Amino acid sequence: SKKIAVAIDGPAGAGKSSISKVVAKQLGYLYIDTGAMYRSVTWAVLHDDIDPTDQAAVETILPTLELTMEPGNDACKVFVRGQEVTGFIRTPQVNNAVSEVASHKGVRQYLVERQRLLADEGGVILDGRDIGSVVLPDAELKIYLTASVKARAKRRWLEVQGTPNEQSLDEITKNVERRDEMDKNREESPLVCVDDAVVIDSSDMTFDETVNRILQLVQEII
Ligand code: C5P
Repeated sequence: SKKIAVAIDGPAGAGKSSISKVVAKQLGYLYIDTGAMYRSVTWAVLHDDIDPTDQAAVETILPTLELTMEPGNDACKVFVRGQEVTGFIRTPQVNNAVSEVASHKGVRQYLVERQRLLADEGGVILDGRDIGSVVLPDAELKIYLTASVKARAKRRWLEVQGTPNEQSLDEITKNVERRDEMDKNREESPLVCVDDAVVIDSSDMTFDETVNRILQLVQEII
């Protein structure tokens, strides 16, 4: 069977990364978490005390980041200047600044180029906001994975319970709504549902149902 590229886009908290990991593992594909790349840049911006809204300053540090990514089939590690930052990129601070950082054109150009190189050989699942529209417009399968704001915020809330990143449901709901708003309305490659994407609304679907639906779509192609 052939090794295809699967693009999964959608709003924050739709379950893209947890679903993609399981699908990738089942297929023996590489999982590439593009949100982790935007988060790593954001972590470095905050670490270097740069204002996330200062486009020129943010773009100036890109060449100093030595950003590398190790995609596996059930995890995707990220490194900045030789240091693994995978564990540092899901804090409320990064959540609050990432959409601002991701709105800068130079940041997107820099990361999209890396994403295309990683996806070059096929047998990959990429999740993000602009995979089907910009990064891999020729992907054999494009999915737009969404769910109601309520369902998405609740899932995020359950995920961070008992971790250092714990926040109230109300705070999480606000962050999810704010990121959706910024991601959909930015000038550079906004979050859109492309015409050739299969829309999956997982509000009333279980995790396994969503995974199986995607595996079924892949099987129809390969
Ligand atoms: O997917 P995740 O929630 O980790 O993404 C974090 C943020 O990174 C998004 O809210 C969005 O602002 C940005 N992002 C993006 N394009 C992608 C992936 C993520 O703009 N392909």
